[in-house]
Amino acid sequence: MEARPQVALSEAGVARAYKRLAPMYDVLFGRVLEPGRRRMAEVVRALQPASLLEIGVGTGLALAHYPPTSKIVGIDLSHEMLERARERARALPDRQITIEHMNAERTSFADGTFDCVTLPYVLSVTPRPAELVREIRRICKPGGTIVVLNHFSGSRFWWLMERAFRSAAEHVGFRSDFRYEEQILSHDWEVVGIESVNLLGLSRLVVLNNRRS
Ligand SMILES: C[S@@+](CC[C@H](N)C(=O)[O-])C[C@H]1O[C@@H](n2cnc3c(N)ncnc32)[C@H](O)[C@@H]1O
Repeated sequence: MEARPQVALSEAGVARAYKRLAPMYDVLFGRVLEPGRRRMAEVVRALQPASLLEIGVGTGLALAHYPPTSKIVGIDLSHEMLERARERARALPDRQITIEHMNAERTSFADGTFDCVTLPYVLSVTPRPAELVREIRRICKPGGTIVVLNHFSGSRFWWLMERAFRSAAEHVGFRSDFRYEEQILSHDWEVVGIESVNLLGLSRLVVLNNRRS
């Protein structure tokens, strides 16, 4: 397949895009991406991690589905998305949920803080995906679990979507051309599970062990 330049996203650009999207995010992307979120949360429930970090928590759509016993931290770049996540967290008063404004590419967490880190629909949105991967591997315990939920290019359907979306990608704040081989297989973590989720298998749920393979 021909090599194409990646769409360049910036921290300010992502914050701007999600400031605009926040009021309508749940209507546009709530239900359509929900099967993937539910399946991701099921995987996390089976693990019962004591500590869990959700990267790009957005409006907090997954929060209610995580294990009730986990101590959860959700971080995001967008204040407007986080306001909605905080509302959702307040509606779950018996849970231990902290919501913080933070760039996941350079967090303030110590090495090995979390048993599990989830990335629902964020890896293709962050300005520097490789930086984000480096940072989550640092703050996830060695041998801990990282769960990536994302679209990856390659299918015939995505081939059409890529062409439809590429020019608009910066406005919407995501990359449509995002290759599994480059973004997942190029790192030395261990892939322990992969499955297609969402309508037409649009997204993939990838479960990774944070050990150096
Ligand atoms: C497509 S939304 C996904 C929201 C939510 N996880 C969901 O399941 O719908 C992507 C979110 O990631 C956030 N984001 C993108 N890059 C980020 C980064 N480097 N650090 C923190 N949040 C980031 C955006 O602000 C946005 O809220």
